[in-house]
Amino acid sequence: MAKLVITIDGPAGSGKSSAAKLLAARIGAAFLDTGAMYRAATLAAMQNRCDLNDIKQLEKIIDETNFEFEMKSGQMAVKINGSDITEEIRDPQVTANVYFIASAQSLRERLVRMQREIAAEYEKIVTEGRDQGTVAFPDAEFKFFLTADSAQRAKRRAKELTGNGHKVDINKLQEEIEKRDKQDTTRKIAPLIPAADAKLVDTTSLTLEQVVEKILELIKK
Ligand code: DC
Repeated sequence: MAKLVITIDGPAGSGKSSAAKLLAARIGAAFLDTGAMYRAATLAAMQNRCDLNDIKQLEKIIDETNFEFEMKSGQMAVKINGSDITEEIRDPQVTANVYFIASAQSLRERLVRMQREIAAEYEKIVTEGRDQGTVAFPDAEFKFFLTADSAQRAKRRAKELTGNGHKVDINKLQEEIEKRDKQDTTRKIAPLIPAADAKLVDTTSLTLEQVVEKILELIKK
């Protein structure tokens, strides 16, 4: 296991991914985007035309796919069976289907195992997701839980998606974010909740720089 593990959990658009990336760069740590892992598993299942309600089929796909996750120019590059799918996993259709993978215990166990294997390769790692402080790394040295109101989160996602050439309807995006919050917080397995020992950071009115400064301040304390 890495000597220093910092977990950053939170809902979609809370800024956890950007904050985790910048924090990792500041302290010279590796960075792991676990949402990208759930997305990659979802895309693998979609490409293989799996029945997304059939856990056995999904287990088989995860077991038989070669996933590669690598930090490249500030972004986590993702490959399945040698093909780069870094952009494709952000497709709204993938986002809508992640739920099937994220709500099944046996599939989550596989991804958590991969996350721990990746962490074991580094001295220091900043890992972000929904269950990093609660399930994947309950003994992490520092745990953070980022929040922000859903209107602000929808604005951030819209900016990200338009930057990638997608057309967006901001109201629909906010509805989708709220739907995903509900799915993530109410699922029986590894729901999105702050770890008891996580520090909460509300990012609604903070810039990325300010979020990272706040996290570094809390670490120093
Ligand atoms: O952070 P993101 O939007 O890329 O995550 C995509 C989905 O993956 C999210 O709706 C919930 C799921 N997820 C999860 O269940 N557990 C994680 N550790 C990371 C993501």
